[in-house]
Amino acid sequence: MQYNDFAFIYDNLMDNVDYDKWVEYIEKIIKKEDVQVKNILELACGTGNLTIPFAKKNYDILGIDISEEMLSVAREKCIDKGIEVVFLNQDMTELDFEIYNLDCVLCACDGFNYILENEDIQSIFDNVYGLLKQKGVFIFDISSYNKLSNILGNNTFGENREDITYIWENYFDDESDMVEMNLAFFTRNGEYYQKFEETHYQRAYKNHEIIKMLKKSGFEYINVYKDFTFSEADEETERVFFVCKK
Ligand SMILES: C[S@@+](CC[C@H](N)C(=O)[O-])C[C@H]1O[C@@H](n2cnc3c(N)ncnc32)[C@H](O)[C@@H]1O
Repeated sequence: MQYNDFAFIYDNLMDNVDYDKWVEYIEKIIKKEDVQVKNILELACGTGNLTIPFAKKNYDILGIDISEEMLSVAREKCIDKGIEVVFLNQDMTELDFEIYNLDCVLCACDGFNYILENEDIQSIFDNVYGLLKQKGVFIFDISSYNKLSNILGNNTFGENREDITYIWENYFDDESDMVEMNLAFFTRNGEYYQKFEETHYQRAYKNHEIIKMLKKSGFEYINVYKDFTFSEADEETERVFFVCKK
């Protein structure tokens, strides 16, 4: 199982991620593409780390995620901040909506790396194409093939924090292009630590594989950027941003 107990410490462990910079970068993309964006559908929104800042900026944003636990954290944060956002518990491989003509569809921070089969990515891209308005924009990022196979793959990471300690062991399989991530967490509970474990699987996609599937869905205008820049993604890129227009 993924993002169950982990959901409740996710934000704590992501405290090194600059989500303001992320929102700023996405807004720069929207401006650069000259698209009028008022509404956004965010896939794999997690605990709402992008959803909430976009809502605060008055975008009409709807977040979906497969993990009810991640969404419960997101909803709690909205209550605390007095913000109203609709979050739906949906698997993005089985999108079920009655809304069309969307201005923007977003999927940030590895959402698509969690989709392991080409057919499922293809069906998401097909659905997103159908949901967007003409000239609507589809923005997403993935951990690059380089990052998953060389940097994270077959490596172990760990951190010993005040209240949380974790061990993160990764195994990359060249045949399936998949990383198995074994995560063990120890969270402090008074004098004791509680241990829980999760196994995550992420798929490493090569950019050309993604581009081929986007084209098959009908996207002809596709830009592929490197790590929060407007330079073309290359071999060294760790986070690849895809910007597509219908
Ligand atoms: C690394 S988290 C990113 C969360 C959020 N976008 C952020 O930037 O913090 C990946 C998210 O993808 C979600 N996810 C994985 N597979 C999914 C699926 N099939 N449908 C919807 N969400 C999915 C997980 O539940 C998790 O919340």
